Amino acid sequence: MKLFEIRESFGLENLKLAERPTPEPAADEVVVQIRATSLNFRDLLVVQGKYNPRMKLPRVPLSDGAGEVTSVGAGVSTWKTGDRVVIPFMPAWLEGELDEGKAGSALGGAVDGVLSEFVVVRAGALLPAPEHLSFEEAATLPCAAVTAWNGLFVSGNLQPGQTLLLQGTGGVSLFGLQFGKAAGAKVVLISSSDEKLKRARALGADETINYRAEPDWEKRVLAVTGGRGVDLTLEVGGAGTLSKTLRATRYSGHVSLIGVLSGIAGDVQTGHILHKAITVRGIYVGSRAMFVDMNRTISQHQLKPVIDRAFPFESAPEALRHLESARHFGKIVITIG
Ligand SMILES: NC(=O)c1ccc[n+]([C@@H]2O[C@H](COP(=O)([O-])OP(=O)(O)OC[C@H]3O[C@@H](n4cnc5c(N)ncnc54)[C@H](OP(=O)(O)O)[C@@H]3O)[C@@H](O)[C@H]2O)c1
Repeated sequence: MKLFEIRESFGLENLKLAERPTPEPAADEVVVQIRATSLNFRDLLVVQGKYNPRMKLPRVPLSDGAGEVTSVGAGVSTWKTGDRVVIPFMPAWLEGELDEGKAGSALGGAVDGVLSEFVVVRAGALLPAPEHLSFEEAATLPCAAVTAWNGLFVSGNLQPGQTLLLQGTGGVSLFGLQFGKAAGAKVVLISSSDEKLKRARALGADETINYRAEPDWEKRVLAVTGGRGVDLTLEVGGAGTLSKTLRATRYSGHVSLIGVLSGIAGDVQTGHILHKAITVRGIYVGSRAMFVDMNRTISQHQLKPVIDRAFPFESAPEALRHLESARHFGKIVITIG
């Protein structure tokens, strides 16, 4: 089978096509032919060596895959050849709290990922792909969508009528927009581009702010919430945006801390957290159980993920460069086979 691997050293130029034997399933495993995969910002960091500079190479990158079952182990009765499936980001996190062992199963990080024609997965980890979604659409779900779901409803406990702040128009934020609107929230969204803000309004964003034109965007967020602040934020900006987010958050509000787009470390106004009794909670994607709940909602509302562009398998490095450019709106996918 063909796959892409980060060969001997990091860097997009070292992401190379390779051949390895097609895997055979053990008794409790299933082999999945990957039909589509999607990109996350993490994948760029992994390939560049910024995610874990000590990662063992060669490594197959990418966490998000959807495809078809092609063979099942002798002890597997839950799946059959031809079933359409999605693979969770952390196949060992089935339910409950996250721990070190579950985190260690994250695909395309500590272990090989899905930028490959075939992968082998524990049967109990797989989920059926929502019926109304194509492989490309289903492949957008494992990381960005589950992260947004966890940040909104599991950690964030979003309620109808509450106000939600979203940053940018990447994968996590646009799932946050779709799920937030489906749940009856009011959405304030910031972006670097007026054109992207227009598209976000078409998807239901109630208030939009250009954070390039208005670097003090937190003041506008306070203004559009009558001075009160938002109830919940999916914080994808990280160190460079967190203090602004805290200023834009109401007393006893909640911040789901997800991303590092503007930096991993930096000064944070901790005074806002304690004075306003704000909860800041770290999110690391989510469990298979959260994925199941999310898919039920996606099917019920017939939600369609926002896909920016699909690249063919051979153009995987180009797809990552497109992600790096930040010109995208929503998810970038790679079609395989
Ligand atoms: N903790 C987790 O489990 C988890 C899971 C998924 C993702 N993440 C993290 O969450 C972040 C977003 O991931 P993603 O895959 O959704 O990324 P993405 O699709 O690459 O989205 C990036 C977008 O974010 C916006 N952005 C960049 N810098 C910004 C800033 N300073 N302030 C506000 N918006 C900014 C830009 O949108 P505009 O062009 O519209 O401005 C950019 O296009 C990344 O840091 C990623 O590593 C974490």
